[in-house]
Amino acid sequence: MVGRRVAGYRLESEVGRGGMAVVYRAKDLRLGRTVAVKLLAPELSRNEVFRQRFIHESQAAAAIDHPHIIPVFEAGEADGILFIAMRFVEGGDLRALITRSGALPVGRAAGLALQIASALDAAHDHELVHRDVKPGNVLVAAGTDSEHPEHLYLADFGLTKKSLSLSGLTGIGQIVGTLDYAAPEQISGRPLDGRCDQYGLGCVVFEMLTGAPPFHRESDLAVLWAHVNDPPPVLREHRPDLPSAVGTVVARALAKAPEERFASCLQFVAELRAAATAQPGTAAPAEGPWASGGPPTAVVPVPLPGTDTPPPGVPEPPAWALPVVSPPARRSFG
Ligand SMILES: Nc1ncnc2c1ncn2[C@@H]1O[C@H](COP(=O)(O)OP(=O)(O)OP(=O)(O)O)[C@@H](O)[C@H]1O
Ligand SMILES: [Mg+2]
Repeated sequence: MVGRRVAGYRLESEVGRGGMAVVYRAKDLRLGRTVAVKLLAPELSRNEVFRQRFIHESQAAAAIDHPHIIPVFEAGEADGILFIAMRFVEGGDLRALITRSGALPVGRAAGLALQIASALDAAHDHELVHRDVKPGNVLVAAGTDSEHPEHLYLADFGLTKKSLSLSGLTGIGQIVGTLDYAAPEQISGRPLDGRCDQYGLGCVVFEMLTGAPPFHRESDLAVLWAHVNDPPPVLREHRPDLPSAVGTVVARALAKAPEERFASCLQFVAELRAAATAQPGTAAPAEGPWASGGPPTAVVPVPLPGTDTPPPGVPEPPAWALPVVSPPARRSFG
């Protein structure tokens, strides 16, 4: 594709590929500037519900003017292929940063989390749930000065490979992409709100602090099970240098029930920063559902996909927000 023209862009070089798209550095021929153009796999372009969701959410993301949300210039379709043109970010993504740096000091991790949290809360204020918060979807640009060495951009609204695979688009038993950051309610196919992104951010914070996401298991299915049923690992076992209050805060963002998490992503990070300055070994300030002492040890199991119904009073999502095809458990064969 390099050298080809797509809509008003000339593709100059391939930047990277994910499971369902290829990203190019490209020249915007109308304005003469460098941009990133993401081309989605043709089979996604042919799926009508995915196409509607992609266009709806790309437009919604483009409408949010926020310093930590990737500026989207155009989203549409050219010659039957869905594409999105956005700011080109030189500097890789948070996945590469964590791989390079390993576990980060808590102050640096909290500073990075703050940028992501502000982007997520802004999206949630616009009724937009990201659904695929993970280090690969956080782009890292150079910051303004030594106190702010990185400027993060949250990318890929509406491009939820995870929700597609969980909804069965890729076929039974074939899960694409990482499930390391999937919230329990997402796995159970329940209606989602911003608290699902807070769970993803909690997984990302855990990874920034330890070098690995919370649930390391032998198989994808075991990871899904762990998100739904297993208590989050104890942070202090990985980072004994940190106050135990930090672990309590991260565990609350990783609560199985959305209503047990923080009211917003920014509140999560504010508590994280407060906990980071507590004395090592001290507990989190008493407040919220765990005021009587730390996170609950007994975890209420959440039904597996296809076995649950949304709780009463929860509004039905619009058609474009529904799974692309029925979850595998509800499919019929023959
Ligand atoms: N605006 C951008 N500027 C520069 N690089 C980008 C931009 N958007 C994405 N990339 C890079 O392109 C690569 C592919 O991105 P893509 O979103 O397709 O995959 P991913 O997020 O890594 O994985 P997944 O397929 O699970 O979403 C990534 O390495 C990402 O860092
Ligand atoms: Mg991505």
